[in-house]
Amino acid sequence: MDKTMETLRINEARFRHHFDTLAKIGKSPEGGLQRSVFSEAHCEVRRWFLERGNEAGLATKIDGAGNHSIVLSCGQAGAKTLLLGSHLDAVPNGGQYDGALGVLAGLEALLSIKDAGLPLSLNVEAIDFTDEEGIYLALLGSRALTGLLTLEQLHSPRGDRHAFEAAYQKAGLTEQSIFQAKRDPDTLAGYLELHIEQGGRLIDAEQDLGIVTGIVGIRSYRIRFKGRANHAGTTPMDKRFDAALGASAFTLAARDISMQEFPGSVVNVGNMIFDPGVFNIVPELVTLSLECRTDTLSELDNLEARLLESASHEAERFGLEIDIQLVGKVAPAPMSEDIQQALVEAGQRLGLRQMKMTSGAGHDAQSMATVCPTGMIFVPSVEGISHAPQEFTEWKDCVNGANVLLQTVIALI
Ligand code: HGY
Ligand code: MN
Ligand code: MN
Repeated sequence: MDKTMETLRINEARFRHHFDTLAKIGKSPEGGLQRSVFSEAHCEVRRWFLERGNEAGLATKIDGAGNHSIVLSCGQAGAKTLLLGSHLDAVPNGGQYDGALGVLAGLEALLSIKDAGLPLSLNVEAIDFTDEEGIYLALLGSRALTGLLTLEQLHSPRGDRHAFEAAYQKAGLTEQSIFQAKRDPDTLAGYLELHIEQGGRLIDAEQDLGIVTGIVGIRSYRIRFKGRANHAGTTPMDKRFDAALGASAFTLAARDISMQEFPGSVVNVGNMIFDPGVFNIVPELVTLSLECRTDTLSELDNLEARLLESASHEAERFGLEIDIQLVGKVAPAPMSEDIQQALVEAGQRLGLRQMKMTSGAGHDAQSMATVCPTGMIFVPSVEGISHAPQEFTEWKDCVNGANVLLQTVIALI
């Protein structure tokens, strides 16, 4: 790589302006983002994103799954495409960096290459994937693009199915169009994603950059504990079929199973809905949202077996019926060794302290890794906080990440 290309850096002022502009769209009074997929704020940031491509005279497109892209073409018919992406949707009351940093860094790398007039052997595409956060269906856009998505998954999303269908239809998508988003893997040269770590390991290790070696597998379940509604005042404690007891006992048991039997795994009960859900009725039904994550498929299978066995045991213990529905399944994904090496070398050229690490968060990269050489880099999350308004990354680290992405793209094109 010649010296001029090695010294090429992003346009920091433009990158900062883009970041500050996006951070305001969907901002809640508490300082978090209300920008769930297909919401008005989400549609607004996606329009803003495509306008940046139009402004630069570049081709823009929206595929059948709603993935939004800006393309810098190399002008050679049949050339492959290097994708740079992440997601502009956010969790409720989420942070300003999760996803947005990666999409903006991809855009900035693409614009910097265009401004420098570098010769290209590949097309470079900045992409914003649909519903990465899985308010309805996790990694929807990248699973559709890679052909991982199944009709069964589309019909049993972890979010409300009717709300999901209404939302994507309002955004102009159809069941058919979503499956038409699938790309021929032979057209893809690779995928790179910059993301905040969303944990505290880089900060604790005083490193500037994380080179991701692999991403955890994730499974999501909807578990219904069903007892019997009854009068909260007149029903003796030993005569109740109280769904709250089964759900609560399971939540604690799940934590013990993860910590004692599967070190390094995580489980999360993100929601419990009580029916009828009033003070003076013994809960008849509790619907619980469970997620579990770990690094390998065999561990995930074993953890799943233990958790579901425990849920049934707690239901029986309190005389409840139980219904368990798997509503999300994402396989663990190793990152490409070659891409990792290219990221390491770019980080070295920039003089950054770096370490290899796995990702405890899910990412679109784990979809992309199933069809093309894929790599991810992390930049530090202050106090390891994410999925909350307090999510914060020092601006110098954001710029470092974007420059590593740019330098890696230059090495690959
Ligand atoms: O849930 C996750 O791990 C990611 O933030 N979507
Ligand atoms: Mn993310
Ligand atoms: Mn997230």
